[in-house]
Parts: sequence; C-alpha cells; structure tokens
Amino acid sequence: MNKVKRIAVLTSGGDAPGMNAAIRAVVRYGIGMGLEVYGVERGFQGLLDNLFVPMNMRSVSDIIHRGGTILKTARCLEFKTEEGQQKAIKNLKANKIDGLIVIGGDGSFMGAKALTDHGFPSIGIPGTIDNDLAYTDYTLGFDTACNTILDAINKIRDTMSSHERVSIIEVMGRNCGDLALYTGICGGAEVIIVPEHKITIDEIVDILGGSRASDKTSGIIVLAEGAGRAPELKAELSERTALTVKSTVLGHIQRGGSPSCRDRYLGTCFGVHAVQLLQKGIGNRIVGIRQNEIYDMDIVEGCSMKKKFNLELYETAQIVSR
Ligand code: ADP
Ligand code: F6P
Repeated sequence: MNKVKRIAVLTSGGDAPGMNAAIRAVVRYGIGMGLEVYGVERGFQGLLDNLFVPMNMRSVSDIIHRGGTILKTARCLEFKTEEGQQKAIKNLKANKIDGLIVIGGDGSFMGAKALTDHGFPSIGIPGTIDNDLAYTDYTLGFDTACNTILDAINKIRDTMSSHERVSIIEVMGRNCGDLALYTGICGGAEVIIVPEHKITIDEIVDILGGSRASDKTSGIIVLAEGAGRAPELKAELSERTALTVKSTVLGHIQRGGSPSCRDRYLGTCFGVHAVQLLQKGIGNRIVGIRQNEIYDMDIVEGCSMKKKFNLELYETAQIVSR
C-alpha cells in the first residue's frame, strides 16, 4: 500500500447544518497529521469538472457556525454512469489525490462506493437533515433542523392558542418521519403524521374532537412530507370538522441556519474519524454514531440496513400530548 499523502473532501446531495464543521475537521486534522487536503467544489460534479481547491488552516476559518456548505453541493446525474466515474477517477489521479471523503446521504454514499469499486478509497460521512440512515443514530443536520422546526412550532402555537385554531405544519424528511416524530413530541403536537405508520382521517378527527372535549382550544398537527400535503389535509379537516384549520409548509428554512452544538460536535468527530480511516488506506466505510460511540462500517452493509420505526415512541407521543 502506498502511503496516503493527499486527500480530498466534497459535499453532495442536500446541504445540512454541520457540513462545514465536518469540512473544517477534515482539513485541520488532515493537515495536522501531515497530509495535504483538497476541497472539491459542487459535489461529484466538481470531480468531473476538475474543481479541486487546495485547502489550508485558514481556508476553514470562521465556518464552524455557518449552515450550508462552503464547498457548495450538487446532484450530478453524469456521475452515476461508468463514463462519469472513469472521468472522476482520472481527475482524482491527475490531482494526485489518494483518498476521498464524501459528506452526504445514501445517494452520495453510492457514489463513494462506486469510486472504491474502481480502486479509489472513499469514506462517507452522513450529512442530511432527514436522519434516514439506519446504520447511524444521527445524521449531521438533523438536530439543527429539529431545533429550527421547534422554533416555528412554538411561534405558530402562540397564534393558534390566541385564536383557538388548529395548525398543520408540514416538515421535510423525504420518506423518513424522524423530523416529524421528534419535533412533534418536543413541540407537544396532538397529532403526528409519518410515512412509517398509517393514521386515517377518522382517527385524526377523533383525536382533535377528544382534545376539544377535554377543554383544549387549539391544536398542532405535525405532518411529514412523505405522508401527505398540508393544504390537502387542511381542506379535508375543514370539511369534516367545525374547527378553523390553518396550514404551513416550512420548506427550506428548516435546512439552513447555524448548526447546533450537537451538529458541530458530530461534524468534528465524523471528520476526524474519516481522516483516520483514510490515513490507514481504508476505504468503502461510512462513519456514524451508535450508542454515543463514533464508529464505521462497510458502505454496502450500512446502506442496505432498514431503518426501524420507533412505534413505542410514536404511541407514547400521542398519549403525552393529550
Ligand atoms: P443524498 O446523498 O442526499 O441521498 P442524492 O440521492 O441526490 O442525495 O445523491 C447525491 C448524488 O450522489 C447524486 O446526484 C449522484 O451524483 C450521486 N449518486 C447517487 N446515487 C448514485 C449511484 N447509485 N451511483 C453513483 N453515484 C450516485
Ligand atoms: O434530503 C434533504 C431534503 O431537504 C429533503 O428533506 C427534501 O425532501 C429534499 O431534500 C428537498 O430537496 P430540494 O432542496 O432539492 O428541493
């Protein structure tokens, strides 16, 4: 095995708060360990377009508290093709890069795997607000997004309780209900709607009716985007009940913003761990956190794990919000 001298880092897929903390850790820890570190701009697209930027300690100054990613991110269809991957490897080799760190979600991890399959060591760091990766308890950005959503729920609750209304708040997460589940619990939502567990319109009407009967005069429904659309649910509930129902689609506000302490911490630990793997010439691994321990596992194994829905937590949430 040749000694690893130069590594690169890129961000891919949807940005997430904490990505900058991870980039900073990769750059500074890498340089601290005697490596040369390059940033690749615009995700896998940057590998094809040769967007390699040499990084130094000052390249990552003043970024740990910033949302988004200083390296920019992209979704790149060409990289999914054999020709695209060959072009990427050619550019990586031309820039004398010995190993790559990919910060992104499961799609980006498939990109990292493709590179390792072509003999180029790559490591994945989970960066997505969705928390939809089974092998890790938390992904970078999830905690910050939860806090942003909670802030919105708190504000919406103020006006809902003043006017005695019910509000549906639609949150992101693709096919994963974690953002809705955690913020629903912590925001005291009377109803939480997630893709992993079916709830009928009759059940929702019953919960809201019970809530009114027990002297609650307002209500919050948190709806995961993977389970339905807020304006449609609002129309249905307005037709089925006498309640005044409002709806808010939070949108991209929940993906931006200064990362929380937890996401800065995770970004730093993930970045350091990824560099340590590459230093040993190890590729094809994804870094994660399980029971509070930073660890790594095989990309294919990790990506094929199916996320288990926490039904007990979901049912508890319904009870404690009554
Ligand atoms: P995320 O990483 O957040 O899941 P995407 O699914 O959009 O986001 O994937 C990000 C990028 O990863 C894609 O635009 C593509 O460049 C790359 N990618 C996704 N799937 C594959 C694949 N099967 N093989 C190679 N590259 C992939
Ligand atoms: O994967 C992160 C995410 O924010 C999802 O929650 C959401 O469905 C999607 O990306 C939105 O993507 P875009 O910004 O491309 O509309």
